Amino acid sequence: MIEEKGYALQIEGLNVWIRGKHIIKNVGLKVPKRRILAVMGPSGSGKSTLLRAINRLIDLIPESKVEGKVLVYGTDVYSEDPYRVRRLMGMVFQTPNPFPNMSIYENVAIGPKLNRLVRSKDELNELVRWALEKAMLWDEVKGRLDDLPHRLSGGQQQRLCLARALALKPKLLLLDEPTGNVDPVNAVKIEEALRSLLRDLEITIVLVTHTPHQAVRISDYIAFIYMGELVEFGLTDTIALNPRHELTVKFLRGEV
Ligand SMILES: Nc1ncnc2c1ncn2[C@@H]1O[C@H](COP(=O)(O)OP(=O)(O)OP(=O)(O)O)[C@@H](O)[C@H]1O
Ligand SMILES: [Mg+2]
Repeated sequence: MIEEKGYALQIEGLNVWIRGKHIIKNVGLKVPKRRILAVMGPSGSGKSTLLRAINRLIDLIPESKVEGKVLVYGTDVYSEDPYRVRRLMGMVFQTPNPFPNMSIYENVAIGPKLNRLVRSKDELNELVRWALEKAMLWDEVKGRLDDLPHRLSGGQQQRLCLARALALKPKLLLLDEPTGNVDPVNAVKIEEALRSLLRDLEITIVLVTHTPHQAVRISDYIAFIYMGELVEFGLTDTIALNPRHELTVKFLRGEV
């Protein structure tokens, strides 16, 4: 597969097996740069596995096998060094997982420090502030950067994890139900933060969500997965107005 100009993510003929079970079945899709793709589908359909196949966290699952192509900003994910591949991408998981023994500041600063992205303490402070602002958390934590993260609410912890990911300036941001465990007010804050990222940064987002309303509100493209198969993929407006597959219709109505 060749890199097509303008695309952030190209997937072709992707298949994943775990312990011999076929989990992702011949998935192919393309997402232009600076767009949000919402991945939807019932529980167990393979959404998280798809994200793990994109950033190669799948390598960590014993007895897993991947076939097919994934290109991220032109980088062939399965022929590059996995550490370099993961540096292109950030990930936020469903349950907030800040480093519990590091301060709010350190949670964001540790990645840039380890990857030598900054040359001075001032530059690091600037980057931490920038990432917390982009995650729409700065105003809530600027006076308490030395606190441990367990003193934040769940939604704030999730935004801290978003800031931690952003501090590494990923090209592709993978989010696995980032608002699944947070209250509606925090969910809206996270959605706003995501939308505004696209305005200011060269970034593309893949967002797994269980909430059809959320997908319609913030995504440009929707992929609907059922039992490992991509049953529908296209522009959000088209799919929301005119879903072709019966399962998508049911899902959008909240029936599956
Ligand atoms: N580490 C693993 N070992 C064995 N099977 C796995 C593993 N990870 C995922 N699977 C299987 O792959 C299938 C898809 O799982 P996956 O977690 O990708 O679904 P999902 O769409 O993210 O579901 P949910 O909405 O509940 O998060 C399931 O049948 C699951 O049991
Ligand atoms: Mg999942």
